[in-house]
Amino acid sequence: MTETLVPPKDEQATKRLFIKTYGCQMNVYDSERMADVLRPLGYAATDTVEDADFVILNTCHIREKAAEKVYSELGKMRELKDAKGGAMTIAVAGCVAQAEGEEIMKRQPAVDLVVGPQAYHQLPELLTRTARARGERIGADFAPDEKFDALPAARGVDGFTAFLTVQEGCDKFCTFCVVPYTRGAEWSRPVAAILAEARELAAKGVREVTLLGQNVNAYDGEGPDGKPSTLARLAWALAEIPGLDRIRYTTSHPNDMSDDLIQAHRDLDVLMPWLHLPVQSGSDRILRLMNRKHGRQKYFELIDRIRKARPDMAMSGDFIVGFPGETEKDFEDTMDLVRRVTYASAFSFMYSPRPGTPAATMGAQVPDAVSRERLQTLQTLLFDQQTAFNASRAGMTIPVLFERPGKFDGHVTGRSPWLQPVYVDGVADQLIGQIVPVTIESGGLKSLSGRLLQKAA
Ligand code: SAH
Ligand code: SF4
Ligand code: F3S
Repeated sequence: MTETLVPPKDEQATKRLFIKTYGCQMNVYDSERMADVLRPLGYAATDTVEDADFVILNTCHIREKAAEKVYSELGKMRELKDAKGGAMTIAVAGCVAQAEGEEIMKRQPAVDLVVGPQAYHQLPELLTRTARARGERIGADFAPDEKFDALPAARGVDGFTAFLTVQEGCDKFCTFCVVPYTRGAEWSRPVAAILAEARELAAKGVREVTLLGQNVNAYDGEGPDGKPSTLARLAWALAEIPGLDRIRYTTSHPNDMSDDLIQAHRDLDVLMPWLHLPVQSGSDRILRLMNRKHGRQKYFELIDRIRKARPDMAMSGDFIVGFPGETEKDFEDTMDLVRRVTYASAFSFMYSPRPGTPAATMGAQVPDAVSRERLQTLQTLLFDQQTAFNASRAGMTIPVLFERPGKFDGHVTGRSPWLQPVYVDGVADQLIGQIVPVTIESGGLKSLSGRLLQKAA
């Protein structure tokens, strides 16, 4: 879960745009695309909110804390707007906008417009309308095809890695989750549109793309033959694009991990050996209550097949503790699953009841104190596994895609194939944008440090 500001800046532009992003990578992608839509109107990104003419909060509804953050942020924005004599337009976008747009307008009069995730292409029109009267709520209907068709072809690019949304929405209806309600039904973009966007990214210097979707491995966009493609076939087609040296994708569902995708991990070297495959719980009983539609045994078998195809695959996951009815035994099953699978990284959360989801009204909600303790126990194990995985890279020589100067003078940082941040002593100008072999000297919880095998040319 990230918070980002939107690059790039454009000194020519006359108006300043500040976007604050919450939630998943799909929101990060959407924020970039909103900046693309607004650029032709003269809006350039700023990272100081005080300078902004237009502020967009791109919000997340996944847990209560995420949603509440929006209202406290809006309180601060209102003060700022007042201090500027009202000369600031405030928009709320993203999943909170979709889920509780009317409430936002009611609770915070400083908000000028509310726009759901499928309506970002309408931002220019909305802004014009807002200039005349306080805006309305737009985007309750899900129309991803319209959104993607209408977004401008030109993409602003910042650096050498990029997100590319290939699939939106979710039909899985896990009983705890708001995503099917905030993002609508599963929908995949056509292969041709994705290839065109990827070619543009590569032409602008991007070397690594991460394909995004709530259930990205359920991707079934229209292929060149008019028939549905698969994510594996899409990856093979992307691999043909000169300059695109690394492909990742996230988030995958265990039930959509098809054979051709597992084989692609064996045969397609640009597909990076890092897989985010959330399981949520290790207890069959809880998995059933969550409506995940698979059990722990199936997950173990799947991991075995994946590791057989790609022995150096690093596994990542998401976990929820304290789901309604979770007993000590259920939690112990989760700990056992984690011990068996061993993760290179993972996110874990206390269950948060979400309005309108079936789990919110299930009996036997677990007390917060119990959930908190379980979360701590689970995270201790997951952090230990992550540290051990990182430490296990010591002595290896691995390719690193360098992205930016490090925090300390003379440091440059990039990513390993397993998504770990890697630090070396080096010359930023020579390294950034290059994939260079690095010998790893040590690895801790968060990062690796290494030395260059050779001086970059
Ligand atoms: N599509 C992805 C998940 C998207 S949401 C998948 O199926 O895995 C990201 C993560 O947030 C989920 O994997 C889950 O671990 C967590 N999450 C979702 N709803 C939650 C809730 N109500 N309470 C706590 N965590 C939740
Ligand atoms: Fe939510 Fe489940 Fe869909 Fe993931 S698969 S987005 S957890 S409903
Ligand atoms: Fe949050 Fe919406 Fe993503 S609820 S996790 S921003 S799909």
